[in-house]
This record gives sequence, C-alpha cells and structure tokens, in this order.
Amino acid sequence: MKNKLFEIQLMTLGACCLMSCGGRSGETYDGRPMEEVLSALTLEQKVNLVMGTRRGEAHPPEEAPGMPARHNHAAIEEISQGRIKGAAADGYSIDSLHIPSIIYADGPAGLRISPFREGTDRTFYCTAFPTGTSLAASWDVHAVEEAAAALGEEVLEYGVDILLAPALNIHRNPLCGRNFEYYSEDPFLTGEMAAAYTKGVQSRGVGVSLKHFAANNQETFRNGVDVQVSERALREIYLRGFERAVRQAAPWSIMSSYNKINGVLASENEWLLTDVLRGEWGFDGVVMTDWWAEENGARQQAAGNDLLMPGTQRQYDEILEGLKAGTLTEAQLDRNVARVLKMIEKTPTFRAYVCSNAPDLEEHARISRRQAADGMVLLENRDGTLPLKPGVRIALFGNAGYDTYAGGTGSGNVNRKYTVHIADGLSSAGFPVDRSLAARYEDYLRTEKARHEAANFWTVPEIGEMPLTESDVARAFAENDVAIVVLSRMAGEGGDRQLRAGDYYPSAAEQANLTRILRTARSTGKRVVLLFNMGGVVELDRSQLACFDAVMHLWLPGQEAGNAVADLLSGRVTPSGKLPFTWAVRYADYPSSSNFPLSAGSDRAVRYEEDIYVGYRYFDTRDVEVLYPFGYGLSYTEFEYSNLTATRVDGGIEVSLDVRNCGAYAGREVVEVYVSLPAAEADRPKKELKAFAKTEQLAPGSSCRVNLFLADEDLTLYDPAIGGWRLAEGTYTVQAAASVDDVRAAARVEVKG
Ligand code: GLC
Repeated sequence: MKNKLFEIQLMTLGACCLMSCGGRSGETYDGRPMEEVLSALTLEQKVNLVMGTRRGEAHPPEEAPGMPARHNHAAIEEISQGRIKGAAADGYSIDSLHIPSIIYADGPAGLRISPFREGTDRTFYCTAFPTGTSLAASWDVHAVEEAAAALGEEVLEYGVDILLAPALNIHRNPLCGRNFEYYSEDPFLTGEMAAAYTKGVQSRGVGVSLKHFAANNQETFRNGVDVQVSERALREIYLRGFERAVRQAAPWSIMSSYNKINGVLASENEWLLTDVLRGEWGFDGVVMTDWWAEENGARQQAAGNDLLMPGTQRQYDEILEGLKAGTLTEAQLDRNVARVLKMIEKTPTFRAYVCSNAPDLEEHARISRRQAADGMVLLENRDGTLPLKPGVRIALFGNAGYDTYAGGTGSGNVNRKYTVHIADGLSSAGFPVDRSLAARYEDYLRTEKARHEAANFWTVPEIGEMPLTESDVARAFAENDVAIVVLSRMAGEGGDRQLRAGDYYPSAAEQANLTRILRTARSTGKRVVLLFNMGGVVELDRSQLACFDAVMHLWLPGQEAGNAVADLLSGRVTPSGKLPFTWAVRYADYPSSSNFPLSAGSDRAVRYEEDIYVGYRYFDTRDVEVLYPFGYGLSYTEFEYSNLTATRVDGGIEVSLDVRNCGAYAGREVVEVYVSLPAAEADRPKKELKAFAKTEQLAPGSSCRVNLFLADEDLTLYDPAIGGWRLAEGTYTVQAAASVDDVRAAARVEVKG
C-alpha cells in the first residue's frame, strides 16, 4: 500500500513538474517530450523564442505622420532583413533543436510582402482581394472561405507561415480609420465571416492571427486609449465575434490590441488573454502583441501574451528584469515557449515545404473579381435604370472612375500588380467611356499626383475632385447616353476619418459637380448612376441622393474593381450584397458620436456609453430613422418569402422557409433571421441577427427551401447579475427578413431553459 501511495505521489509530482515547466503532460515538440526541449534551451534562447527578431534593428528615426517613431512600418519594411522582404516579422531559429525561424506577414485583403527582391528580376506581387467590409457585405460565408483559401495559397507559395488577419473589430463608429478592414457592426455576422476566413486560409496549411483582440474600435491614441466598456457590451458585442471564430475555426494565433480595456492594457490583460480566451473559449494557440505594443514585456508574458512582436531590445530586457523581480516566472516563460513551439510545428517552414513563389495569380484574380461583385450593394435602382443596355455610351465623372481605390492604407494594403479602374472595366465590357472626359481626368490626376508627395505606407495623396465646368458637363451629357459619378474616400491605419468637407462630408468641388451633373440630367432627361468607392460612408443631402437614378456601394473591392463593377452594371451578375452596417441620416445620429474618439473630460479614455446598443441594436430599437438600414440591399429581381416554420428542437431552434424569385432576372437572396427575446427580458434590443443564408442563383420563377439552425448558445444573453450567459425562458419571435427593417415572415417559439 505504502509503495502504491509513494508511486501516486511521484506521479503527481511529475505531473506538477510537467505543468510547471510549460509542457502539458505528454506534449512534445518534433517528437521529443516538451520538457526535454525546454530544458535544452538556455534562458536567452527561451526569451528569443517569445519574440520577433527585430531586436537588432535600430528604431526608425523618422516619425510617420501622426505616429511615434517606433511605429514607422514604412522604414521598418525597408530595413527589415528578414527572409521574406516586406514581411512583418521573423521568429528566431535554433538549428540544433530543429526550431526554424517562421515568417509573419500582413494582411486581411491580401498577403503584404515587397514585390521586388534583390538579386532577381522575378516579382512577388500578391492579389488584392476585396477588403473586410466588402467580404461581409456579400453575406456569403462559402465565397469568403474560397477567397481566403486563395489568399492562403499565396501565403503558402510565397513562403510565409502566419498571416496577420482577419481583422474583426466592430464598426462602432463610421469614422474609425480601419473600418474598411473590419466586417460589421454586428458580432454574429462578424464572427461568421472571421470563422469562414480563418477556415479558408488555414485550409492551405498556414496560420492566421485574429486581430485586434479586443475593442480596438478607433485609431486615435490607439496605443493607449482606455476603452471603458461594460462587461455585458464587451461580451455580447466586442468579444463575441472573436469567440465565434475561436470556437468554430481554431485560429493558430490571435493578436492582442494596443488599447486598454477598463484600465488594463489588452496585451497585459490576464483576464482577457487567459481567463476568457483560454479558460472559457478553449483557445490553445499563441497570443502575439501588435507591433511595438511594448508596454511591459514581463507583464505581457505573465498575462498570457506569448509572443512579443516585432521583438525589441526593450522587450528582451524587460523579460529578464521580470524574471529577476518575480513579476514573471520561468514556468510562465516555459508555458509561452511551449505554445510558440507547438505553433511552429504546424508551419510549412517546419515541414520544410518548398514554396513555388508562383501562386496562381490569374485564378486568384478571377476569385477576387467574383467576390468583389458578390459584395457590392445596390442601394437605389429607379425605373430599372440598371442593368445598362449593351453598348450604351458612358459619361464617367469622378477621379476614382480613372483611379479607383482597391484597398485602404497601412498594413491592410497589398502590393498588387495592377488595379482595374472603373473606366477600364466599363470599356472592356463594351461600354464606350467618353474619351475626352477620360483624357481630362487622366491628365488632371497625372498633374496633381506630380504636385503631391508620393503615396507611402500611411497615406495616399488627397487629391481634390477635379472641378467640372458647365460646358464639360453639357458636352458629356450631349454626346453620351448615361452618366456615372464616382465618389471615393481613402482611409487607413494610424488615423481616424474626420468630420470635415472632403472626408465625411462632400468637398466643395464634389458638391458643385454633383449639382451641375444632376441639373443637366434633369434638363436632358438622361439617367445618372452614383457609385461609392470607399470603405464606409459619406453624408450626402438626402434630397440630392434621391435625384440619382441608381446608387451602388462598391467598397474597396480589390484589384479587379472595374471588372466587378462592369459585371454588375451590365447585368452579367445580379447584385446580391447587403449592408453590414447601418447608414445613418447624419453623423450625430450614431449613438457613439457623443464620445468618439474620446469621452469629454478624459485625456485618453473613451466610454462606450451606448453599451450593447451599437448599430441597428440602437436605430431599430429606438426607432431612429436611417438612410439605409443594416442588412439592406436591392437586386435586379425580387424575392418573396413564404411557409416559414420555427421549431424548438434539442439544442436550438430549426428555421425553414421558401424563397422564390418572383422577378425577371436570375439572382441570389440573402435571408436574415432575427430573434426577439421574451418580452420579460428588459433592456434588450428589439431584435438581433442570429442566422443568415445566401441562396444559390435562382432563375426567375424558381424557388428554394432555406434551412437554418439557431443554436441555444447563440440565443443566450449575458447577464451581469449572474456574471454569465443564460438562455431566457418564454416566447421568442423568429423573423425572416430581407433587412433589419424589412421583416417578411415571423413565427413564435416557446423556449423552456
Ligand atoms: C500594425 C497593425 C496590425 C499589423 C501589424 C504588423 O500596427 O495594427 O494590424 O498586423 O502592425 O504590420
């Protein structure tokens, strides 16, 4: 008996030892017990393994516009001597232990590496896919997964191991500079998109890094703004998309955000990175910092931020100081090293994959074009203005007609080989674009670009809209059949959009052009189409907007922009996108407008006073009029919903309905399912998105049965009184809708716990 007891004690001691030195019992690296690998590492090797290799580089001296020197990626990209030029960071290698250096590179809309390398004439261009909001506007998880798999193919074949994407922070306010990279105002749509994207990229044997975890909803003071938010709003709105993607798609890594959450830096936040992410959601990958989020390396490591990027001398020194001071234990360091090793073990570099440096860019361009069209949203189409008749002559107004924005600035930009501008796409599709107008714009753009600073990592030159004279407009209308006007905005990392003319509001030149064009349209009786080429919204006068015969949002749609526009305007593809956010009538209507980007009286804090009432949760519940509601988008055809059933089953609610194409064009419909909780639940949104599906192409007159499942865990609410989620009991109202304020059918379901 005594021996048995001793044996049990020995085993327990052994298990504790394993746990304490980072290896979960039985964990291995490269076939060897993890604790054996850990004990073979010197302290310096361990510290190197939990950071990037940039320690050797001097911080770039010059300041990026508005950013502290340490964040000047543009300089970093030039001086980084990593294995893949232009990648964001390399990991350390230890050859004796078969620990290779792995490569990390951006970004959500395409792999971001330099297209050129010393010593070779070959190029390394990557495909610029549609940006995050454009993907979400497709509401098509299968198409997003397909596009992400193509992106993952480029990550693999260009020799990168971890893609620093997807970016899935919530659109809390339309001015956030990085909203174009993010999906939506709604956490369910966000989570579904992030999960599909993650599955797509990781299907190619490379990893992702979900970012920026969490509540990074503005760029102003991003490196330290203190987001003060209720736990309910944090859980239901700002964390929920990450949770969905972690549970559904097992991302290899997550990138913590720069900001604080309720006074604690996300990258040093043990509650967030260990208790919630790992303890509750079961995440077992690596957490890395955002670049140069180097508040305190030891605190970051202790909190469960396993990898410090891109790796600086300060981070290295702080870890050693922390070990000495006891703010970081060697067991915690070992734990983090083990996690990094387990991620390395999954990578193509570890598997000695020989990359081709020749991904199928032509096929990926086709996928990018298809996805871009899938996400564009038709907002108005009066008297069947669209699709255009074949061969109609086009008067194309707007700088972006000839210099179309494919993506945003910052780490989310892609070094692509080309952009198909709208003028090119229309011409290729057989729509003659007025040559004299084109020549005016091309000459104007050339001259203006020469006058401005060249584009860099952070910005593209803000070139004012080319002023049009009365005679310009009159001639163009006289010699063409249809007018198309393109309004564009650029935005990106490191700064938020501004409430000023030329950004959130039209510039004087834009306003004058629009007035002239609409006046001439009225006098000639010719049609005018308005296209928005931007990541978010601008505020136009409603009465003016109503004068356009058709309006479409293109987003920042990737390199095939012009071809995708032509596919839709020609009717080759029927528009099927729907807005992933609410477009308010005026900026002041957004509930966050009262405290974005900083709350009054605070130097670096922002109070999320709207709590869970973000986007349609506010506008729909408080019955505030909007310009275009969440989930809104037109087609060239029409759909009717019928025979809705909602049945309580084990673990959820089964929803089923018929969708019929009752119009004249083939098309696809996005069915949105919202749920209203039992009336007894006070302080809840009127309804919330809990499922959606996009039909296949339906021919005129044909129909299909759409089946959806609402899982109980998706129906729960976060109750601060119990500090947890609970499933309300009572009568739920399930609504099948074409948008949040266009409910086509509803059914009631009893739920008993
Ligand atoms: C940036 C961004 C992050 C990006 C990283 C590497 O500062 O916030 O999205 O992945 O640095 O470029």
